[in-house]
Amino acid sequence: VSATPHDTLYQYLNEIRRQVDEELERLLPGAQEYPPSIHQAMRHSVFAGGKRLRPILCLESGRLFQGEEKSLVHLGCALELIHTYSLIHDDLPALDNDDLRRGKPTCHRVYGEATAILAGDALLTLAFEVLSAPGLLPEGRSPRIIHELAHAIGTRGGMVGGQVVDLEAAGRQTDAATLQYIHSAKTGAFIRAAVRCGALGANAPEEDLARLTVYGAKIGLAFQIADDLLDVTGSKEELGKSVGKDGQQQKATYPAIHGLEESQRIASQLVREACAALEPYGDRAKRLQEIAHFLIERTN
Ligand code: IPE
Ligand code: IPE
Ligand code: MG
Ligand code: MG
Ligand code: MG
Repeated sequence: VSATPHDTLYQYLNEIRRQVDEELERLLPGAQEYPPSIHQAMRHSVFAGGKRLRPILCLESGRLFQGEEKSLVHLGCALELIHTYSLIHDDLPALDNDDLRRGKPTCHRVYGEATAILAGDALLTLAFEVLSAPGLLPEGRSPRIIHELAHAIGTRGGMVGGQVVDLEAAGRQTDAATLQYIHSAKTGAFIRAAVRCGALGANAPEEDLARLTVYGAKIGLAFQIADDLLDVTGSKEELGKSVGKDGQQQKATYPAIHGLEESQRIASQLVREACAALEPYGDRAKRLQEIAHFLIERTN
């Protein structure tokens, strides 16, 4: 079911979430499938909740170029599997050491550290199994999409690179350029890739891809700034994760380095620039522009 322009953003986001969750249910091994402990751990984290923002961005970016819904949802599910892997590992005692995620106890708190590490590995691996399944993506597009995603979550300007610098910067003086690197790499690169993959999955021409790349990179950075802000101003109940942790762990964050107000200003400015990049599409890009605003106005 496609969203109509009359749906509110809220209804629209819920509808995509439902489609993605239905497909994730099909893609993940059953809870009783052998060996059950790992499958239960994977399912625990994937179905704990989650806004499904990366699938939403992928789908909406693909819709802009009349992409095929079913393959975009499939692609979005692969993104969500990767994202959930990154959360499980991010929460481990050796990384951020968190007990609460998506309103539930973290994977390692329920299943133990060893199983949680393996559940993360398994979700990451399953994502690439899903991505490389024959017939999923438009003819010939699959290698490029897989290559882009793998790069976006790797060590060169990608998620793992950003996480390493994030860990190394904790408790140290960090300059604004390093902070921007951390955030653009650990979170922005994957969000940018989610947007690009949707467009690639819909065979968008290169000049369109370039506009969506600007949009994706800017909202990706803005998203992590909002995440930092919510750690200071948000509530545990709404977020479903602990708050005040960044301060405790002396993480390099936008509020810590730029202050609350300036961080809010930077995030709003990035969203304005992201939306401006989509102006050539007029009303067709209205949803993507609404989503960009939602990313920094959210309370969870
Ligand atoms: C949290 O991501 C981790 C970051 C990259 C900041 P989300 O805020 O998208 O988490 P879920 O998927 O909704 O739980
Ligand atoms: C997470 O950043 C980035 C990832 C790659 C998972 P954070 O460590 O700030 O995310 P939360 O606040 O724990 O969700
Ligand atoms: Mg972290
Ligand atoms: Mg964390
Ligand atoms: Mg955070």
